[in-house]
Amino acid sequence: MVMQTSKHSSKSPRNRGFYVKMKLLPTSTFIYRYFKWFLWFFLSFYFFISFHITHKPPSLSKTTFLHHPYLKTTSRALIESLKKTTQYPKTIVPKVYIYNLPSKFNKDWLTNPRCSNHLFASEVAIHKALLDNNDVRTLDYREADFFFVPVYVACNFSTSNGFPAIGHARQLVHEAVEIISSEFGFWNWSNGADHIFVASHDYGACFHAMEDRAKADGIPEFMKNSIILQTFGVEHYHPCQDVENVVVPPYIPPESVRRTLEKSPIDGRRDIFAFFRGKMEVHPKNISGRFYSKKVRTVIWEKYGGDRRFYLKRKRFGGYQSEIVRSKFCLCPLGWAPWSPRLVESVVLGCVPVIIADGIRLPFSSTVPWAEISLTVAERDVDKLGPILEHVMRTNLTSIQRKLRDPDVRKALLFNDPMIQGDATWHVLQALSMKKSYKKWRVLSE
Ligand SMILES: *[C@@H]1O[C@H](CO)[C@@H](O)[C@H](O)[C@H]1NC(C)=O
Ligand SMILES: *[C@@H]1O[C@H](CO)[C@@H](O)[C@H](O)[C@H]1NC(C)=O
Ligand SMILES: *[C@@H]1O[C@H](CO)[C@@H](O)[C@H](O)[C@H]1NC(C)=O
Ligand SMILES: *[C@@H]1O[C@H](CO)[C@@H](O)[C@H](O)[C@H]1NC(C)=O
Repeated sequence: MVMQTSKHSSKSPRNRGFYVKMKLLPTSTFIYRYFKWFLWFFLSFYFFISFHITHKPPSLSKTTFLHHPYLKTTSRALIESLKKTTQYPKTIVPKVYIYNLPSKFNKDWLTNPRCSNHLFASEVAIHKALLDNNDVRTLDYREADFFFVPVYVACNFSTSNGFPAIGHARQLVHEAVEIISSEFGFWNWSNGADHIFVASHDYGACFHAMEDRAKADGIPEFMKNSIILQTFGVEHYHPCQDVENVVVPPYIPPESVRRTLEKSPIDGRRDIFAFFRGKMEVHPKNISGRFYSKKVRTVIWEKYGGDRRFYLKRKRFGGYQSEIVRSKFCLCPLGWAPWSPRLVESVVLGCVPVIIADGIRLPFSSTVPWAEISLTVAERDVDKLGPILEHVMRTNLTSIQRKLRDPDVRKALLFNDPMIQGDATWHVLQALSMKKSYKKWRVLSE
């Protein structure tokens, strides 16, 4: 610059003024002199950053801490929030604080290996998946959107019949709430509203296997303000789901499914027309005015027990998944409660589930197109199963089977450890992020 001014002497008066100003403002001398360069630098920096924000979200995720699949979606969500969008980013992952309760509430039950594998074991699976995921789990309560209370209530198996004995469940959960509400402040802040429990047994947080008793007992007062993850779900009003809840699939160990698929026939031939294995009472008992399966299973046995198209078995058999994988239609009639683990096993093993449970509310219906991958038969039409299934086989069975092969659908119904994007735990988190109590979203929307 000095060289240039000396060459063009006509500009010297301006230059003098320049120097005068510089003397008057000694502190800003440097900035003033290189103002153009600063401006250029800031503009370039601004364009560089905004280009990267709008065009390259994955490169941002690299600069943060992990190469985890969730990270891409998390950083994208962050970017969306920077852009002050009013649209809710669908794939945001909430932060969960997990209470470290004494082992009698959870780990001690695992001494029985069945505890983490039976059909109610989502209470264990979700806890483990959250513990093992550093993107979701937070140790800093200030960062938490939700608080997870890990109590395993369905692992107390009765010695007489082997079924979970949940008589102690209320007391156990109550004790846990006493501990967390007295030792930590988080419960009192929201009166439990951002707290999550799993109640995977038949009538959710009513904690009783018999519907009448469950209804009469109701959901304990101390859980009514919280969010319950439950397998129980019906479309109509029911006191046992009269609480913020997310319907989750019953637990089927992913390894068992993998093993079955490995051993299944390579040609994928399904030689069984319609399959059901399970309890079918010929003379169901009247238990305080109710009959098991509302007699639906009895009708199935009476009507189709002798029908060669139907493969119906009443005995327990550990290898029943190998029968599902050989079947075109798998019957999923209600038991005491509407849901059944067969729903999950049928879908993941490619057998079209035939749902016979009026008013059932199915898990993750925003992702899993239940109407396209299953058949629903009304309880009163169960005696017409034969013609209904024959009709579907002639018309649209192949199109249903094709939709059933969608890996996203199968993935959504299994709990994995570690959690994978699109699996059951991931869907639970998605459902939670849609809840009112999701603080981050509340802040963004204000
Ligand atoms: C297990 O369940 C039974 C029956 O409900 C109950 O008596 C017992 O106290 C429970 N065990 C524990 C450790 O809570
Ligand atoms: C939360 O409220 C209960 C009941 O009012 C009280 O007994 C308890 O001490 C409170 N907890 C904390 C951590 O302040
Ligand atoms: C079943 O038992 C209840 C009493 O527990 C009785 O009121 C009802 O009439 C019985 N129902 C049938 C169909 O027998
Ligand atoms: C298949 O056909 C049945 C009977 O006509 C119908 O109820 C069902 O909706 C159809 N399903 C699909 C996925 O097209």
